Amino acid sequence: MDPKTAQELVNQAIEAREKAYAPYSKFKVGAAILTKNGTVFLGCNIENASYGATICAERAAVANMVSSGHTDPVAIAICYNETEFALPCGICRQVLSEFADQNEDLIVLMAKTDGTYQETTLSTLLPGAFKLIDSKK
Ligand code: THU
Repeated sequence: MDPKTAQELVNQAIEAREKAYAPYSKFKVGAAILTKNGTVFLGCNIENASYGATICAERAAVANMVSSGHTDPVAIAICYNETEFALPCGICRQVLSEFADQNEDLIVLMAKTDGTYQETTLSTLLPGAFKLIDSKK
């Protein structure tokens, strides 16, 4: 995707990370999803004392997007620290694939908190995703 739009989305993921509620792991994650019409939805991880109830940043961003009436993401930026390009967990890959366009692969910007990033796609990270396409009709 165009580098200016990508960098803006990465910067928004870095900002979203500041809101992370991660008192248990202390591992803050931020995500920013760009939809087809240019709207951006943010998410951060929200941990819980019952650890399994924790919500990842990517799924929080998806929940924000869908509950605002959008189901057409074109790109997501994710960041968690300054040493690794952030990768979405397996559950988040599956949740993202629910809304990924069949013909245009969802762009995933794996960012570091210093703003650098690498670009990949969801189908690279999750080939052969499970879908119930016919059930949506
Ligand atoms: N986490 C995310 O927010 N996204 C991921 O893709 C991986 C993990 C969060 C969950 C938990 O709050 C913390 O990172 C440590 O696993």
